[in-house]
Formats: sequence, C-alpha cells, structure tokens
Amino acid sequence: MSHTLTETSTTATTSIPPTLQLRGEVGLLRVRPVVQYEGGGTFGAEVEGVDWSKPIPDDVVDQLIALEDKYAVLIFRQTGLDNDGHIAFSQQLGADLEVNPFYYGRENDRVGEPYLWDVGNIELDGSLVKPNSRRWHHSLGNTLWHTDSSYHQRRSKYSLLLSHGDPVRGGSWTHFADTRQAYTDLPEELKLQLEDLIVEHDLWHSRKLGSPVVYGNPLPHEKAAKPPAYHRLVQISPGGQKALYLAAHAKTVSGMSLEDSQKLLWKLIDHCTQPKYVFSMEWLNAGDMVWWDNRQSMHRANPYTEDMTARDVRRSTVIDDGPLAWGVPDAKSLFTTA
Ligand SMILES: [Fe+2]
Repeated sequence: MSHTLTETSTTATTSIPPTLQLRGEVGLLRVRPVVQYEGGGTFGAEVEGVDWSKPIPDDVVDQLIALEDKYAVLIFRQTGLDNDGHIAFSQQLGADLEVNPFYYGRENDRVGEPYLWDVGNIELDGSLVKPNSRRWHHSLGNTLWHTDSSYHQRRSKYSLLLSHGDPVRGGSWTHFADTRQAYTDLPEELKLQLEDLIVEHDLWHSRKLGSPVVYGNPLPHEKAAKPPAYHRLVQISPGGQKALYLAAHAKTVSGMSLEDSQKLLWKLIDHCTQPKYVFSMEWLNAGDMVWWDNRQSMHRANPYTEDMTARDVRRSTVIDDGPLAWGVPDAKSLFTTA
C-alpha cells in the first residue's frame, strides 16, 4: 500500500510541529507529530480523521498501524467509543487481548468486560479508591516508568486507554518516553555492552518499589499468578529501529547482582526519561483515547492523591504476535533470583 504524506503547514521555523495528511484509499487522516528531533525522528502524534462511529475499514487499520510503528504513541480526541467499540478496534490490532486478572465476573466488575482493565479510581459502589487500600498501593507501581506486561513471558504489544466521562482539566495526564531515540543517543561503547543482555521482569518488583510496606512481601497466590519473565534489553522495534525494552518491572540483568542490575537499569530508565525524550498527554474530554506501543516506549501515570476527583479510564491490552513476543524463556536458568 502506498501512502502520500503532504505537509499542510509551511511554518518550518515554529516550534509547533506541522500537521501531516495521510491520504489512503478511504478517508483522510491528519497527523500532528508531538516530538520532532533535530536529526529527523519523531515521537507521538495526534491523529484526526478516523470515523469511529462505524467499524474501522481494514485499509485504515493498516494505515494506523503504520503510523503506530513510526510514532509509537497515537492520540485520538473525542472518539465517542464505548466499551464494545474499544474492544472491537483493539481486536483489529491483534487476535488476542489480555484478560483483566482483577475481573471476577460481570456483577463484580464496574466496567463489566473481561477485556477491559478498570485503571481509573472508582470502586464498584461509585466511591473513589480509598487511601491505603490494597488497590491504592497496587496502583503506586504504575506511577513508575514502565511498559505494560513486560513481566509476562508472552508480552503485550499495544495498550489502548480510553476516557469515559470528562476528566478534570489540568489534572489528568499520562506521560510517555521514547526508548528508540534514547537508545540511538547512547555512547557506542555502552551499546556494545548492552547488546546481548537479558533482563528478568517481575511485576512484584515494581509493586515493591511503588509500595514497599504493602508489597514488600506479596501474597503467595499473587506471586504464583505472576512469575517473572525474561526479555532482551536491546530489541528491534516495529519501526525497524533499535530500542531499549525497559520497565520498573525490570529486576535483574543476566550476569549481574541485583544491586548492580538495579543501578544499570535505573541509569538507563533515567536516560530514557530525560525531558527531550518525553511528552505528557493531557486528558481533555470524554472519548479521548491513547494507543501506545509497549515495545518502543515507556509510560507512567500520575499517582492517586487524597484530594483526587473521579477519573474513569479503561484499558485494553493487545498481546504481542511479533517475532520477539515470547522473549527468552530459556534464560530463566541464568538468574539466581528467579
Ligand atoms: Fe501501564
């Protein structure tokens, strides 16, 4: 399929990125990059022109996946999508969606869909998540930079987060970091050292970092449900660039002690999350949706606060079907802390 990209803005000297129009066989997508690097790379884009009121045609899905490969994070405003539309579009992006592990049946779930994760702050009875509840402490790990589901041996490729109801203006943000450009800018000597490393990812490691008191010792059934997983640190991203596959879930590096692993991993996370590789998306309206590629970005949420207001956001997660989806399961034997 051939695409024609046309710049509609000539304001090359402004800091506001130009809007690109992507003409396909159906419709017209308008693409506004969020970050443009001096060397020519881009990260994040707002996309307009998708008709969300009906099933998305396959050729438009193909165009959107090509944009996702390029920009790693796509933002869509006021989609009007409901749960069914959210799930249906997600299923066009991959055959398998993750089932929410906190789903205990429709009558026990506020959202009522096993394929949607309730990642807002509202309980089943309509009250807000209570400070110091287990859910509150579990969420603290999500405020650390991470990729979703890197702790699964078969990881997930995409996450799609959709807002239901108007968010509070000025108070609702999700933050993204570009692990491709960050890798590109590393010293060549360090790249050589990192090239063949394998990392153990463990959900309980990030929960402990987020909430040492409550998750210092996760419950036995929690640990049994989510054992660690093993993935290469340096990977080829879907867009063809090398990228760091990192997350707060990353615990130990092959051949290194836990202490030295953490020093290296957080040095790399700090490198990737410098302001030049980061943008923050503000949630503005009901129906806003962000779709990110966990294989070439990291993200983090704002923490719950005692004075927060209701926020209803729901996430679908598309399981990876690419060549690196299963990571390196045989590497388990390399890790003494496994
Ligand atoms: Fe996340």
